[in-house]
Amino acid sequence: MTEWWRTFFDVDYCRLWESVTGPERTEREVAGIWTLLGLRPGSRVVDAPCGYGRIARVVAQRGAVVLGVDQSADLIAEAERRRNGIPLEQLRYQCADLRDSLTIDGFDVALNVFSSIGYGTENDDIRVLATLRRAVRPGGQVFIETAHRDWVVSLRLGSNSGRRLPDGTLMVEEPRLDPLSGRVESTWYWSGPAGAGQKISSLRIYNATELAHLVETAGLRVQSLHDGCSVNPFVGSGPDMSRRLGLLAVRD
Ligand SMILES: C[S@@+](CC[C@H](N)C(=O)[O-])C[C@H]1O[C@@H](n2cnc3c(N)ncnc32)[C@H](O)[C@@H]1O
Repeated sequence: MTEWWRTFFDVDYCRLWESVTGPERTEREVAGIWTLLGLRPGSRVVDAPCGYGRIARVVAQRGAVVLGVDQSADLIAEAERRRNGIPLEQLRYQCADLRDSLTIDGFDVALNVFSSIGYGTENDDIRVLATLRRAVRPGGQVFIETAHRDWVVSLRLGSNSGRRLPDGTLMVEEPRLDPLSGRVESTWYWSGPAGAGQKISSLRIYNATELAHLVETAGLRVQSLHDGCSVNPFVGSGPDMSRRLGLLAVRD
């Protein structure tokens, strides 16, 4: 499998996808995570992967001590540019592949949010989850928030979805679900005042059962399912089905 994600997460990603995860959504997500995980000023949190630090920075601003880890040098550089004067003792970043056995441990909480799993093979994901397990202390919590297959299927994928960004750029995604691999292969096109381009992504989208199995294979115990980054329970079917899946696990 090609490691497409090694080049996907660059300055264009940052500029284009930021409009999806604007400050309001980030504040709402962090508020949910903060309550759900019982965070307090001084809590030790690893945000992995952290992208350009949108969650890590806001969690640190609330007083937690945060380490953000991501494989993208471009996004880590952007995270550093946006640290808003938060001191190093409060917020650090590290550029690393989470599949590797990193020497990070003793955290109260590990976060993996905004569809940050499913890039490579199932085995790659188990390695990432095992890194998160090792990163937290016994009794520590791991929280994963991502798209889930039941919602994706209900969207009738294949119809084009376009989005107009604040600077006028038009962005269109052409997604296709491969039912056998469970991967959504998407081509993203954009055109606007800052230029035009395209990117291709391939993401394994797990349902709750599959993700729970993976998490347990990595040595964690599933505690509860949530409606995205919120304390509300996950709704798995019907008209109120949750759009996003939050899975809370514990290292025993
Ligand atoms: C969709 S972004 C989400 C980032 C961040 N969690 C957020 O909420 O903005 C997914 C991130 O996963 C990172 N990533 C994917 N696989 C990784 C790996 N094996 N090790 C480290 N980072 C990885 C990418 O570089 C990218 O920044």
